[in-house]
Amino acid sequence: MLRDPRFKRIDVSPITGALGADIRGVDLAASPDEETFREVKKALDIYHVVAVRDQQLNPHNYQAMAARFGPFSGNPVHAPMEGLEHIIQFIREPSDTGKVIGEDWHMDLAWMVKPPGITMLYGEVIPPVGGDTCFTSLVHAYRALSPGMRAMLHGRMGLHSGKGVFAINAMQSRLGLRKDAANAEETEVEHPLICAHPVTGERYVFVSSVLRSISGLTEDESRPIIKYLMDVATRPEFHCRIRWEPGTLTMWDNPCVLHTALNDYTGFRRVTYRTTIEGWAPVAAPDINEAANTPLAALHQLNTLELAA
Ligand code: SIN
Repeated sequence: MLRDPRFKRIDVSPITGALGADIRGVDLAASPDEETFREVKKALDIYHVVAVRDQQLNPHNYQAMAARFGPFSGNPVHAPMEGLEHIIQFIREPSDTGKVIGEDWHMDLAWMVKPPGITMLYGEVIPPVGGDTCFTSLVHAYRALSPGMRAMLHGRMGLHSGKGVFAINAMQSRLGLRKDAANAEETEVEHPLICAHPVTGERYVFVSSVLRSISGLTEDESRPIIKYLMDVATRPEFHCRIRWEPGTLTMWDNPCVLHTALNDYTGFRRVTYRTTIEGWAPVAAPDINEAANTPLAALHQLNTLELAA
């Protein structure tokens, strides 16, 4: 297993060549010191998805721990747990059938003006087999586009709509919804299609399952382009897959990835807790130049150099 030598306080092991890392050697509930905490955030910036293993969280210390990452983002749809304003419980019982929560590739709350910057999901009860979560990189999706496609999309806005979001959540009988959750149906927001990450500067394609149209094009004209972008974004070589264990806290850089919960564990129980940290209004990439090497590419170079030495 490759260990990223840039981290001194925690063990960080990349999961695939595209994104994702396992983190071991930190107890987030025990308020790690500032340098250790900075390393966890740095790992999230570099890998976009991190699975922090062997945590011992309950909904209360989870909420307190999460607050260290920034202010909580609003969630206009899901009702929080009683007495815990920012923690949502997802339960799937062995007898449940039909779609699981978060099935199909999506970005959390992409139709908000500021989609969450970080989503956290803590696994308490995990099926003995199945129930993994897959992620894919929108940074790699951008890098895979031709110069012509980038030039066509650069400077354009995408219209993201909450239509259908209430209905899909209302199908989940165990999921608490806010009283005004149906307002999501009327919500629309424009985000740039080609964005720059405010921390790393990496460019990414802002495509999501709720992207309806592209500025300057009709919905009919937009549809095949959106489908193409989703096809590129979900190519398997841009994925990582988190195999959960009880006590795994998975965090993701929500605007830079899409994710899907796998529906393959009927007959088993799964209990997870989600919270979201405020993000930013997506920032248009300033130009269409080739993206600088991603931090992950830098790791590959580093290892090549170390092997060559
Ligand atoms: C989600 O989409 O937020 C849930 C993902 C999961 O349950 O694996």
